Amino acid sequence: MQKYESAMRMALNAAEQFVGATAPNPAVGCIALDRNGKVLLGAAHQKAGTAHAEAKVLEMASKLGKLSQIETLVVTLEPCNHQGKTPPCTDAILKHKNIRRVVYGSKDPNPSVKGGGADRLRSSGLEVVEGVLEAECDFFLRAFKKWVTQKIPYVVLKGAFQTSGSMVPPPGQKTFTSQASLYFAHELRKKSDAIWVASGTVLADAPELTVRWMPDHPQKKRHLILSDRRKRIPSSWIERQKSLGFLPQFADTIQEGLEYLGKNGVLQVLVEAGPLFRKAWLESGLWDESVVIKQGKEGQDDSIEIEFAVDQKEEQPTMDQEVPKGPSTELDNE
Ligand SMILES: NC(=O)c1ccc[n+]([C@@H]2O[C@H](COP(=O)([O-])OP(=O)(O)OC[C@H]3O[C@@H](n4cnc5c(N)ncnc54)[C@H](OP(=O)(O)O)[C@@H]3O)[C@@H](O)[C@H]2O)c1
Repeated sequence: MQKYESAMRMALNAAEQFVGATAPNPAVGCIALDRNGKVLLGAAHQKAGTAHAEAKVLEMASKLGKLSQIETLVVTLEPCNHQGKTPPCTDAILKHKNIRRVVYGSKDPNPSVKGGGADRLRSSGLEVVEGVLEAECDFFLRAFKKWVTQKIPYVVLKGAFQTSGSMVPPPGQKTFTSQASLYFAHELRKKSDAIWVASGTVLADAPELTVRWMPDHPQKKRHLILSDRRKRIPSSWIERQKSLGFLPQFADTIQEGLEYLGKNGVLQVLVEAGPLFRKAWLESGLWDESVVIKQGKEGQDDSIEIEFAVDQKEEQPTMDQEVPKGPSTELDNE
């Protein structure tokens, strides 16, 4: 088991780059090893409707003339065994007799396909090693797992607080956090398939909810839930958001918004609430992850506190384990 951990970390790292790009599919990474356990190449699933990570690795290996050298595939998620928008990964793997082993981290959390991929590979004579870095892989898959089992998205509730404890920026400002915190907040947007705001924030700031400070996933369109029971949000602001690639939808209740997003294949929603709407979320108990950015005192850095709702706590890996940089999925573009 342990000998596959570093390849699994590389696979997680490859997948990480596509969080927010693959809904309703999960981000998945795969690394191919040769008979000596040496890394040959790696890839990740990039977008729904395109090749899954395993198929992508095989496709790339074929182009690079390395297909016959693959003995082991290390995948963050159990390979699928069903026909979706793309053929089953098990079929793609079984076509190549030199592939003798599949190592994976998380079991497929989809209740309707559990065990399918591993059983099929095993019954076809492959060695299957399961549960390598399982806690990390399960944690990485938390949004997909929630959506696939509950049909509502994973909710990240973000809030920034000044040293005074206020969430409201000083007059004339839209923000008060550091550059590093802004970068972090935009990364959260990038990883989300939807943003949720309420009227108070729109009326005060007319925010642009796009990903800035870093390139967004190409052609990404995000759902935008608007909580605005008195319909005070100007239509001009809504039109502007549409022109920026957002798909707006009003929701009068949290439950209504969650159900809408779930039906639309949203794995993760980022709630960017002001104090009133934040309170409603906290009282609802329907959030999964609370991200609090605390402004640092004069001359000090901001701090970020992440809290998980109770049922996520058990699945948290130790946070000091950094996923090291593996082979870049730029390989995908070769
Ligand atoms: N620091 C931060 O992280 C942060 C983030 C966002 C905003 N802000 C700041 O917050 C300030 C605005 O504060 P705010 O509290 O008015 O903004 P808000 O919480 O974004 O919006 C409040 C509005 O949400 C609507 N709403 C819809 N459903 C609700 C529900 N279930 N419970 C409560 N409200 C609901 C209400 O209007 P209806 O009754 O018409 O529905 C309410 O007036 C601005 O200055 C902005 O800059 C700070």
